[in-house]
Amino acid sequence: MKSTAIANANIALVKYWGKKDKKLMLPQNSSISMTLDGLNTITTVEFDKKYDKDIFVLNDQELRENKEFEKVVKHLDLIRKISGTREKAKVVSKNNFPTAAGLASSASGFAALSLAGAQAAGIDLDLKELSKLARRGSGSATRSCQGGFVEWQKGEKEDGSDSYAVQIAKPEHWPEFRMITTIVSTVTKKVSSRAGMAQTVETCPMYKAWLDTVNEDLKKVKRGILEKDFTLVGKTTESNCLKMHATMITTQPAIVYWMPATLEIIHAILAWREKGLECYFTIDAGPQVKVICLEKDVSELEKRLQAVEGVKKTIVCKPGEEPKLINEHLF
Ligand code: DP6
Repeated sequence: MKSTAIANANIALVKYWGKKDKKLMLPQNSSISMTLDGLNTITTVEFDKKYDKDIFVLNDQELRENKEFEKVVKHLDLIRKISGTREKAKVVSKNNFPTAAGLASSASGFAALSLAGAQAAGIDLDLKELSKLARRGSGSATRSCQGGFVEWQKGEKEDGSDSYAVQIAKPEHWPEFRMITTIVSTVTKKVSSRAGMAQTVETCPMYKAWLDTVNEDLKKVKRGILEKDFTLVGKTTESNCLKMHATMITTQPAIVYWMPATLEIIHAILAWREKGLECYFTIDAGPQVKVICLEKDVSELEKRLQAVEGVKKTIVCKPGEEPKLINEHLF
């Protein structure tokens, strides 16, 4: 059977950085994100006996024997195990934004692959089970399996059965919330999130301090979302991001994802905020700066961001929906 799904990327407001179980993809800490309307992956999966090996086409290019291909085959193996099918699959996937530039393409990618793959293999999963499956492909994909504002609860059980995504609030709860992504570079990063977080857990002397303060950030951001307290969400998001980057920078060898333009934008935001334009930044494992703000300030902020040296493009997103099945197949 052939199935197609669309899933949105997400932006972490409280970051996931570090695993306690690499095989089951269990995180060291819980995290919170907003699902992003308009930054998406569409994926079609077909299991059929006509395929003698798995095929993966990403953005019109067939990938073979690289890490991305291996991750997809591993995920298909998991779906085959759950469903009992032995057939190989063809997977065709398209992102509508640059892959591997710190824009969480693995989040929307594995959420879409999990939904389309499960459906194509004949299994119906609710969003909780879908998020557990997506988690095995990429941690941040767990959160892309719910819409709006989402918590990935790290869970306590060793088998990972309680490590899944829970919706904090629907997209309609806070429709004025916006994230503006700036694109300063589309070059594939040197250190992947996966390798970077493993190195951080192993070698960063600050890592324990990170874990010690995450629970407080989770509480604040959750309360901020429920009470629509933008200042509380913004301040906590920005400081949580800086704490994560402090752990990256202090690993051995150091991982510095920032580029000169990243710092230009950080300084601009701090200055604009001081003069009364309320906005905050957050940055993942890459050079792009994501600015969070309210709808009323979007056009002014876009104008100012586009004037910052090194900014190639801006993309505005509002809170988005959970993954969905669609009828238009990619092949
Ligand atoms: C910095 O989910 O890409 O974006 O689980 O190894 O696939 P794997 O890593 P990934 O890491 C995301 C890290 C982050 C923070 C976040 O999204 O929470």
